[in-house]
Amino acid sequence: MICIDKIEFQKLAKVPRLHLINSCMGFKSANLIGTISKDGITNLAVFSSITHLGSDPALLGFILRPTTVPRHTYTNLKDIGFFSVNAISESFIRSAHQTSANYPKEVSEFEATGIAVEWKQTINVPFVRDSAVQLLCKYVNEYEIKENGTIHVIASIEKIFVKDELLGEDYWIQLDKGNVVAINGLDGYSKTELIERLPYARAPK
Ligand SMILES: Cc1cc2nc3c(=O)[nH]c(=O)nc-3n(C[C@H](O)[C@H](O)[C@H](O)COP(=O)(O)O)c2cc1C
Repeated sequence: MICIDKIEFQKLAKVPRLHLINSCMGFKSANLIGTISKDGITNLAVFSSITHLGSDPALLGFILRPTTVPRHTYTNLKDIGFFSVNAISESFIRSAHQTSANYPKEVSEFEATGIAVEWKQTINVPFVRDSAVQLLCKYVNEYEIKENGTIHVIASIEKIFVKDELLGEDYWIQLDKGNVVAINGLDGYSKTELIERLPYARAPK
């Protein structure tokens, strides 16, 4: 095994360091956050830091990069209070990745990347039509990560839309049936395949 210690990786150029540190702790979830601005312009961006925070109440969180430059997702979700989380599938990884480009706020990433928008009745938040799992989320709170100026955004899950064939009788969602991908580092998209579901682990008596 190769050992890369802190002194060594701190000396790496920005891009290789970014690759190393972003990929060393495993696969991450692959989602697009959909929002709408006060002016009615839709926005879509890829996020790999969305994680489960608790089931009761149903909460998720994600890490937002420092707001030293305009962050449209953040501005919109603070203004409107709601956003959508849409799972990325194999069929649209390229366009999903393209949403990370720095488009001006007047440009909708739905139009710029060709990702089809879906509107749900009575909900003024854009969803990704081809996502197998779509969540409607409500902004709840945020915490500054003082160590690096990022923000941990906390949101409640208000509605879950899931393709019929993914939802089991026990309400478990089998993501690979929707070809939902995982993110490796900052630019690698991996296929997923369920190996096995295991029973609740108990210590032997
Ligand atoms: C694979 C991948 C994952 C990303 N994950 C995050 C993330 O978790 N948090 C974040 O702030 N930006 C993340 N980004 C960067 C945003 O997608 C990018 O800054 C985007 O332009 C934000 O759009 P907005 O300004 O419209 O919100 C990621 C980019 C890529 C390519």
